[in-house]
Amino acid sequence: QELREQYRPQFHFTPKANWMNDPNGMVYHHGIYHLFFQYYPHDKVWGPMHWGHATSKDMISWEEQPIALYPDTLGYIFSGSAVVDKANTAGFGKDALVAIFTHHDPVQEKQKTGRHETQSIAYSLDDGKTWTKYEGNPVIENPGISDFRDPKVRWFEPQKKWIMTLATKDRITFYSSPNLKSWTRESDFGAKEGGHGGVWECPDLFPIMHAGRQIWVLIVNINPGGPNKGSAGQYFLGDFDGKTFTPNSKETKWLDFGTDNYAAVTFANTGSRQILLGWMSNWQYANVVPTDPWRSAMTIARELGLKTVGKEIYLTSLTVKELDVLNSTGFSLNRVKVKGQLDLTEKAKNKTGLFRIDLKTKNTADFSIVLANEVGNELMVGYDKAANQYYIDRTNSGKTDFEKGFGKKHIAPRFATGSDIPLTLIGDVASVELFADNGLTVMTDIFFPEKPMSKLSIKSVSGITMDHLKYTILKPSVE
Ligand code: FRU
Repeated sequence: QELREQYRPQFHFTPKANWMNDPNGMVYHHGIYHLFFQYYPHDKVWGPMHWGHATSKDMISWEEQPIALYPDTLGYIFSGSAVVDKANTAGFGKDALVAIFTHHDPVQEKQKTGRHETQSIAYSLDDGKTWTKYEGNPVIENPGISDFRDPKVRWFEPQKKWIMTLATKDRITFYSSPNLKSWTRESDFGAKEGGHGGVWECPDLFPIMHAGRQIWVLIVNINPGGPNKGSAGQYFLGDFDGKTFTPNSKETKWLDFGTDNYAAVTFANTGSRQILLGWMSNWQYANVVPTDPWRSAMTIARELGLKTVGKEIYLTSLTVKELDVLNSTGFSLNRVKVKGQLDLTEKAKNKTGLFRIDLKTKNTADFSIVLANEVGNELMVGYDKAANQYYIDRTNSGKTDFEKGFGKKHIAPRFATGSDIPLTLIGDVASVELFADNGLTVMTDIFFPEKPMSKLSIKSVSGITMDHLKYTILKPSVE
């Protein structure tokens, strides 16, 4: 079913109506990707949380399903994860889908007991359609920590046990379990490491092979305290031995320097692929963005990798290759000199504002990609040579007056050291996602243009050569 309201993303997941925040329980199972999400089905603002549900064969076209988990006597259903219990460790059934989530009790919250968040589980034996909550919930009681939530569980094969990564206020606590029901506290991480401008939320822990070595990635979302204000995701790289996470660097690193990729975590059960997806909004303004009858979208799914630059290793993200199913017509140019402004609107012939740009240039001068429309809205994505930074400027991008901090320019460091700049930019109706230097610097920003961004130009005041520029119009994911 196609939905074409103003600002409605055409290839990013949105609920048909009402409020959505974090992605939850993302898991690949029997050929289907499942995306659950923080959902309030009765209003367009945050409220008593449910787990909404959507399914997809390719992580690009999503179909919304009935609500999976409803609030109960233990509280609202806050964020968490899902696993496939292949060995039936919990005894719910072979290949059961098991969801591990936070119960947030609003009554205790009012009483200020400081113990209102606990961890619980539920299982599904019919591919996520219906869920049964475990009668022994909660499986982890609150030890007296007011923020105690967002369990991300994975199987730790070397010791044949489950590991839960839990956000516990200003740090991460790891738990382990043989059966998803009884949990033992293993260790804490992060009281001194990383950014602490806000509360730690929605963590993730997974290994990636890099140069023949297994490196553990610990993602920690934080709100506020992001590099361009508000909500953002930081990550640590290091070792994990089944008990303790040991970081290999003191540098605070960010998954995405834009303002609109929060609570990003990875899918379970995707083999050696690590696929990340986030909530494309920010707590600074999520409740007041000018969309109707829904609020919020998810980012495009991204494949993660690692890359060494000098002495540091960084996480890289690029759009999943499945996105290519949306490719339609376009054009490409080689060795074009840009001095001043090169208008590509006629060539692009894009009325929808859905596109992909793959560009190769050099770091020899400032340049920007300018998206615009006939009513004068403008969004700029560019590179500032003197500062060696990328940026997205949404100051004049359309509707911005719903929140005073929204209409701003956001910046991101360039980590790559070579002179070649490869860059991919994905545009939907109300968002851009920038992947620079093969995913070393990433920025995701939403915006609200009054008309589709149908105009395209490249700008460079001092002059630059675009070695290669490929422009592809993308199709909506639901036609
Ligand atoms: C992150 C978060 C989580 C919590 C959920 C509540 O955006 O605050 O920590 O579980 O949202 O909706």
